[in-house]
Amino acid sequence: MVQPIVRLAGLGRSFPEGGGLRSVLDGVDLSLPAGQFTALLGPSGSGKSTLLNLVSGIDRPDTGVVEVAGVALHDLSERERTLFRRDRLGFVFQFFNLIPTLTVEENLLLPFELRGGVTPRQRERARELLDRVGLVDRLNSWPDLLSGGEQQRIAVARALVHKPQLVLADEPTGNLDRDTGEVVLDLLDELLRPLGTSLLCVTHAPEVARRMDQVLIIRDRKVVRLEAGDENGMPGQSAEVASGGERG
Ligand SMILES: Nc1ncnc2c1ncn2[C@@H]1O[C@H](COP(=O)(O)OP(=O)(O)OP(=O)(O)O)[C@@H](O)[C@H]1O
Ligand SMILES: [Mg+2]
Repeated sequence: MVQPIVRLAGLGRSFPEGGGLRSVLDGVDLSLPAGQFTALLGPSGSGKSTLLNLVSGIDRPDTGVVEVAGVALHDLSERERTLFRRDRLGFVFQFFNLIPTLTVEENLLLPFELRGGVTPRQRERARELLDRVGLVDRLNSWPDLLSGGEQQRIAVARALVHKPQLVLADEPTGNLDRDTGEVVLDLLDELLRPLGTSLLCVTHAPEVARRMDQVLIIRDRKVVRLEAGDENGMPGQSAEVASGGERG
């Protein structure tokens, strides 16, 4: 059997509230096949970002196990988790999160700088990716001067520059119009699929979920698969969403 890229078992996370604890995730079991694109849906406040933070090791669960690419995150020290995240994971956020005081090229090269310096091969890879996202002529620009769609294309390039095994995206099209969102999704398809890179993508948008291989939803503090004909998925969209996974 192929090793899953993400395995969660008995995962639980609560947060302090009003002198007590409020449980956000409880008994979450989940296995994501390597190489697949997964959408994660759920109402605001249901724990989607919390789940991404647990998968990336930014946050730690109260109970249960998180394994990414076969590595149990609780076996790693804080420093090892940071290195693991830097080397194996890529991130795309709703608000792009490019560093405004670095040029486009410097933003892309930052992960390598943090590893102790940029090699010519890495610089080449960054330029290649900027070319693939159609923005190689902007490498000396400041991110703030680019449009939202352009910034997100840069952010996609940045997420992939070190060839991560898993990309975590938190509403990557949430701040873009529909057509621009499509362009960003096309890029994720074109750039991740050939390398077998996995994607876990939080979204509210049915048209985004439809492009993924499987659709999960957080319901009653657990993660369940959204099946065809599921009435309680996305109102008026669930059948369409659930039948969208025939690619790949
Ligand atoms: N560090 C924290 N301390 C306290 N409560 C937190 C913390 N992080 C998240 N929560 C709470 O956990 C719940 C889930 O939050 P989370 O950000 O995961 O929701 P979400 O599904 O991503 O929502 P949205 O769609 O609005 O982004 C919320 O009620 C939030 O207030
Ligand atoms: Mg969120």
